[in-house]
Amino acid sequence: MTWLITGGAGYIGAHVVRAMTEAGERTVVYDDLSTGIAERVPDGVPLEVGSTLDRERLSRVLAAHGITGVVHLAAKKQVGESVDLPLHYYRENVEGLRVLLEAVTAAGVPSFVFSSSAAVYGMPDVELVTEETPCAPMSPYGETKLAGEWLVRATGRATGLSTASLRYFNVAGAAAPELADTGVFNLIPMVFEKLTEGAPPRVFGDDYPTPDGTCVRDYIHVVDLAEAHVAAARALEESPGRDLTLNIGRGEGVSVREMIDRINAITGYGRPPTVTPRRPGDPARVVASAERVATELGWKAKHDVQDMITSAWEGWVRLHPEAARD
Ligand SMILES: NC(=O)c1ccc[n+]([C@@H]2O[C@H](COP(=O)([O-])OP(=O)(O)OC[C@H]3O[C@@H](n4cnc5c(N)ncnc54)[C@H](O)[C@@H]3O)[C@@H](O)[C@H]2O)c1
Repeated sequence: MTWLITGGAGYIGAHVVRAMTEAGERTVVYDDLSTGIAERVPDGVPLEVGSTLDRERLSRVLAAHGITGVVHLAAKKQVGESVDLPLHYYRENVEGLRVLLEAVTAAGVPSFVFSSSAAVYGMPDVELVTEETPCAPMSPYGETKLAGEWLVRATGRATGLSTASLRYFNVAGAAAPELADTGVFNLIPMVFEKLTEGAPPRVFGDDYPTPDGTCVRDYIHVVDLAEAHVAAARALEESPGRDLTLNIGRGEGVSVREMIDRINAITGYGRPPTVTPRRPGDPARVVASAERVATELGWKAKHDVQDMITSAWEGWVRLHPEAARD
């Protein structure tokens, strides 16, 4: 099998390439390098620079490499930016996917794995979010992911394409410092940034109906997430005609305050947070039920929050050496 990894020069994509290669699959990266970094693509893995909006280029790449499966990660991912630039997000994430699916089905590629997100659920009012929990995205970004799932499923039903949509929860950590996320959009890098600046980390609201009053999330190590892609790819290869929608999380909630305490302990900063008002649109608790993915793929996360923070910190210090403490 040869898998095309769109967005393979990105944070998660680079981990997927690594995991697929270690599992013995051939991979080819397709990426426009808009947020990706070419150096993340390992030696021996071809990098095709192009946009998912370029149908002709996609068709040439699929044929030239004899692609038999696609893992589609290429997308724009910033929730706040999507509120300001909805047309850009719909174009990149939905139109880019539609064009890719056209090229994939025309080329007769049998398997397709799609990067979805817990953002499809919006503000779920449940203890554990199952795949049956109603989807009500709160941002254009979440909408593009839900529309993407619909496109993928409809195409599978119409053409026999075997599909899996993986709804990632809060992704963190790195397999190696050079593969760490370089953006500051999630809690862990936001706390690192404040500590590095010599400022207290911020808690947005401590009056939520949760045990310590701060928001609760489900964090998943990017190495585990990458392994879930290998398991999904294998499941599609082994039994064609699949139509999977799966949460990828640990099924364990960690509060913002707990995360900040752990980050302070691991980094040696020990700086108490300040509490500021709630941000609009932040749900109190979003924690996955990870039962279906265990049943369907036999996959379960192995890494804990300690591994995520430690590996993310090593990546942060590589980019910000001034942050290191003796
Ligand atoms: N990081 C998270 O916490 C998270 C959570 C849920 C879902 N996701 C999804 O996972 C996927 C990967 O996210 P990431 O965190 O690695 O982001 P990233 O920005 O690091 O990676 C995205 C990659 O896609 C490429 N790309 C973007 N638009 C493209 C296009 N039109 N054509 C070709 N290449 C394009 C970028 O250059 C980049 O290499 C995205 O689909 C994102 O929505 C991420």
